[in-house]
Amino acid sequence: MSRRRDSVLREMGLAPLWKLRAPAIAIEATGTVGQVGASADPSGQADRAAAIAAMDWDELRASVAGCRACELCRARRQAVLGVGDLHPDWLFVGEGPGAEEDARGEPFVGQAGRLLDAMLAAIGLRRGEGVYIANAVKCRPPDNRTPSPDEIVACRPYLARQIELLAPRLIVALGRPAAQTLLDREVKIAALRGKRLDYRGTPLVVTYHPAYLLRNLNDKARAWEDLCFARAVQRGANPQASQ
Ligand code: URA
Repeated sequence: MSRRRDSVLREMGLAPLWKLRAPAIAIEATGTVGQVGASADPSGQADRAAAIAAMDWDELRASVAGCRACELCRARRQAVLGVGDLHPDWLFVGEGPGAEEDARGEPFVGQAGRLLDAMLAAIGLRRGEGVYIANAVKCRPPDNRTPSPDEIVACRPYLARQIELLAPRLIVALGRPAAQTLLDREVKIAALRGKRLDYRGTPLVVTYHPAYLLRNLNDKARAWEDLCFARAVQRGANPQASQ
């Protein structure tokens, strides 16, 4: 199946099956990469997550830059932590760095990034001004494939700590992998659009990924509706309870 077709099917919720309960992977502290067997100490993951949960920004930056917790470290040029206002009203979460992001060390600087900037401008936002942009995984998946569940699980403590430090007023998940990462369950974007969801007490809304919108122009109007909804949630104008 071509990558484009695969990605459209993914957005339609037809593939692949989502399994977040992935096998444990070897952790950074071991300096190795790969899956650990059933006999490995299962508390290693919890220890790693606890260590990350206590990090400040400098520690987090250094840890992400040197992370070898999953296979993605092998092909990356650099890990891409995120960019923007460290006390943001808005946090946008994408899937993972692409080639340009891997080269430049900043999320959403390629074609999808230019569309994201236009989407931000449409609701009066600019990257860096009350806005932070991050990804579900910090290293580029080879050939821009979707990050695997293992890779997302390995990177999730970083995203969780990032969100804790940022304390945004609203999170916007861009596309299905980001939404699934934040909600920790299998989802379909179409089913969650227009809903005020919750990430650990912070309002969360979902919309389509800009790269998907570049291929599916008809859904741009829906993304516009989603951003207007997000702005209403941000302003406290939407009375709908968290789901
Ligand atoms: N797509 C993403 O999900 N993130 C980026 O940083 C770039 C493209």
